[in-house]
Amino acid sequence: MDDVRIETIQDRVGQVVTLRGWLAARRSSGKIHFLQVRDGTGVIQCVMVRSQVSDDEFQAADHCPQESSVEVGGTVRADPRSPIGYEVDVTSFRVVHESEPYPITPKEHGTAFLMEHRHLWIRSRRQHAILRVRASLIKAIRDYFDSHGFLLVDTPILTPAACEGTTTLFELGYFGDRAFLTQSGQLYNEATAAAFGKVYCFGPTFRAEKSKTRRHLTEFWMVEPEMAFCDFEQNMAVAEDFLVSIVARVLDERRRELEVLERDTRPLEAVRKPFPRLHYEEAVRLLHENGSDLQSGDDFGGDDETILTRLFDRPIMVHRFPAAVKAFYMKRDPDDPRYALGVDVLAPEGYGEVIGGGQREDDLETLRAAIRAHGLPEEAFRWYVDLRRYGSFPHSGFGLGVERTLAWICGLPHVRETIPFPRMLEKIWP
Ligand code: 4AD
Ligand code: MG
Repeated sequence: MDDVRIETIQDRVGQVVTLRGWLAARRSSGKIHFLQVRDGTGVIQCVMVRSQVSDDEFQAADHCPQESSVEVGGTVRADPRSPIGYEVDVTSFRVVHESEPYPITPKEHGTAFLMEHRHLWIRSRRQHAILRVRASLIKAIRDYFDSHGFLLVDTPILTPAACEGTTTLFELGYFGDRAFLTQSGQLYNEATAAAFGKVYCFGPTFRAEKSKTRRHLTEFWMVEPEMAFCDFEQNMAVAEDFLVSIVARVLDERRRELEVLERDTRPLEAVRKPFPRLHYEEAVRLLHENGSDLQSGDDFGGDDETILTRLFDRPIMVHRFPAAVKAFYMKRDPDDPRYALGVDVLAPEGYGEVIGGGQREDDLETLRAAIRAHGLPEEAFRWYVDLRRYGSFPHSGFGLGVERTLAWICGLPHVRETIPFPRMLEKIWP
């Protein structure tokens, strides 16, 4: 198959090519049809002049409904009026399948309608752009860790225990027993870090989030690096360097898509080191000065993150949250054990948390006490506490949520458009 793609059509100027795709739109002026053909990599205008094709072909194009699949042959020509710089002069035309009336028309549709038609909506210009940025973001993430000495080690999806709290667990039957969908690969990463030093896992994670917000999905993708002999400060430095690197890479590779999304890229260009670092209590003070009624000692809500991030022009790192509101595995700050060595990286422009991480408790008895204090079943964590018996080691890591990061990079108001088929409370269709 001759792989002609609209994305690289500049290599074909003057050549006769065959495009296979879908008819995105059509406009006619008597003797000429202007066909907008979409092949998955872009849209190109194909100009069909009556005298250049058979009557049947000209007729077929005249009646061809939106989203019919078509095969268009013709000569590629540079055209300065074209948004992509090229057009095709049509010499042959074949309808592969004539579409039924397409539900998504150029008129405005409500979000609920579009979400019901997500399987078709992903063909649309904006959705197409977002998902292409997503692919580049994921590639940038992988390349960062692959080129910084991390080994990709996959962690399981079916698990016997909670990692991030028991209230958001999806439970399923497991041969007469029960299992849970993973909330995070972290605990397994801690085991693989002892085997390989620097590791990362990257896969879907699941949380039974019972609230409807613009930041929560029940199935989302998370990348999680874990590093042996890495302390809290070093971990923050890696998170910072990583975030700067992936944002720059996406800006570099996906300018055109960000333009389609009308994203003002200046705030993204400002994502440089160093990120401001704020102790939890400092952040609370700032929040109070700016109208939040957060109770000191509580975890931040989405609104608090929005207020806080609007005060800075780049991502910020809030560290040392009260241990009581953080996960059982976090190491306490040796200087003030009321606080945990945890960090959240909050994206600017009101986006909020995109990374959560920290240093892990590495003392056997302290960890066992924390498991008990959180009311977790000790038996389920037996393998995990083993890591503190056989060569325990200081270690840290973090997790970055792909969808929240993408919503920020693309400037979207809601995470639902950042994943091909979003899963949320009351939403598992299509
Ligand atoms: O802060 P979280 O819960 O941290 C962890 O899961 C750690 N075990 C990670 C680690 O240290 N290895 O989640 C990490 C990130 C968040 O910052 C956010 O970007 C994303 O995962 N996230 C969600 N994204 C979409 N929908 C949800 N319901 C999310 N919950 C967390
Ligand atoms: Mg978090």
